[in-house]
Amino acid sequence: MRTIIEPFRIKSVEPIRMTTPAERRAFLAAAHHNLFGLRSDDVLIDLLTDSGTSAMSAEQWAAVMRGDESYAGSPSFERFEAAVRTLMPFRHVIPTHQGRAAEAILFSIVGGPGRVIPSNSHFDTTRGNIEATGAEAVDLVIPEGREPRNRHPFKGNVDLDALRELLEAHGDAVPCVMATVTNNAGGGQPVSLANLRAVADLAHAHGKPFFIDGCRFAENAWFIKRREPGQAERPVPDIVRDMFAVADGMTMSAKKDAFGNIGGWLALDDDDLAARARTRLILTEGFPTYGGLAGRDLDALAQGLAEIVDEDYLRYRIRAIEYVGERLLALGVPIVEPVGGHAIFVDARAWLPHIPPLGYPGQSLAVALYEHAGIRSCEIGTVMFGRRPDGSEEPAAMDLVRLAFPRRVYTQSHADYVVEAFEELSEHRDRLPAYRITWEPPSLRHFTARFAPA
Ligand code: F0G
Repeated sequence: MRTIIEPFRIKSVEPIRMTTPAERRAFLAAAHHNLFGLRSDDVLIDLLTDSGTSAMSAEQWAAVMRGDESYAGSPSFERFEAAVRTLMPFRHVIPTHQGRAAEAILFSIVGGPGRVIPSNSHFDTTRGNIEATGAEAVDLVIPEGREPRNRHPFKGNVDLDALRELLEAHGDAVPCVMATVTNNAGGGQPVSLANLRAVADLAHAHGKPFFIDGCRFAENAWFIKRREPGQAERPVPDIVRDMFAVADGMTMSAKKDAFGNIGGWLALDDDDLAARARTRLILTEGFPTYGGLAGRDLDALAQGLAEIVDEDYLRYRIRAIEYVGERLLALGVPIVEPVGGHAIFVDARAWLPHIPPLGYPGQSLAVALYEHAGIRSCEIGTVMFGRRPDGSEEPAAMDLVRLAFPRRVYTQSHADYVVEAFEELSEHRDRLPAYRITWEPPSLRHFTARFAPA
């Protein structure tokens, strides 16, 4: 059969409340044209993020009931730890309430003024947590990873020459080397097994530990299976174990590839580092057998980890996003190619050439998608990255709009509806307005800034 079906039935549903364009215009005005200001009840299809928005399975809900809420020594922790170590066999597994908490703990220990931490691309909370300690976050993705139309199969790979140069010139300043799988900030692009091994070898040759930001590890493993020579016949869990076998530790947001609505962890091999991390954990998150989570969350994650490496799920997951990408390309909508694992990134600057970067083409497209069809997306461009610390502005490298797909939540007709919205918008895209910012906070302005059509 050619049709790849959603490999699940739906037992429990959340109604979507239909709205009209006129109603949505009023909601937009009340939210000052910032989509973060909308009530999610007023959104028809919410593609703001794939984080924490997964549908849990019946087995996960059953696991919630199994959760043991003891402060210390909960069997829920043992089940969680065993599930993590089945895929990522690190000596120490430290639960946190989400990914950024794991990052904050790690960098509070290895960061600090004068330190430099390279990765393919740091996600914004990772960068923020590194910079908050006074250290510098450096992005070293391969040049192909910065070209929206380059169809390199592993556009998330780390630039090995650039990493070698950094380690040779400033090795003393580097406490660890990182790689994000898949590379969210670079379009959800995967990193190959060969690249992970080469990065680990380079780091180890310089005596540095190698950490993986593993948020979307299963999607990355699926791309390895499909695209990397010699991997096609291997089970996904084996590929996952190979990815982490070369690393000394990992940070994780379980809100992505663990089907969690909340959760994360820091895992590592080094006993001394783990002891320091647990001390910090007790201060900021909780006792080491629950971290920032309830026992029921730990049990839901243990079950989620068993489900996320299911190949029928991954085949459907990656194909569902690729399908939207193919149909948008057929309409002539420019997107980052090849399509990544969790999201479509639309090149709004290229699609709305009449709007200059400082007129925020990404914001204009995101607002139009909501007004026209009730779809909520996320600007990743000059609104998010264009403000310098001195308050002045410059265009971001790209003006993208991210359509991030929650896991197991939407069906093919929802995807077709998204494509149709682009089809209708394409007829009058030359009339979409530029925007100006009428109020903004000093940092992270995209969350709360107010906009008006220019
Ligand atoms: N690392 C990556 C690669 C991420 O994508 C995220 C979150 C984090 C770390 C932080 O994890 O949210 O659990 O604290 N990404 C979400 C997104 C928010 O929409 O891409 P967290």
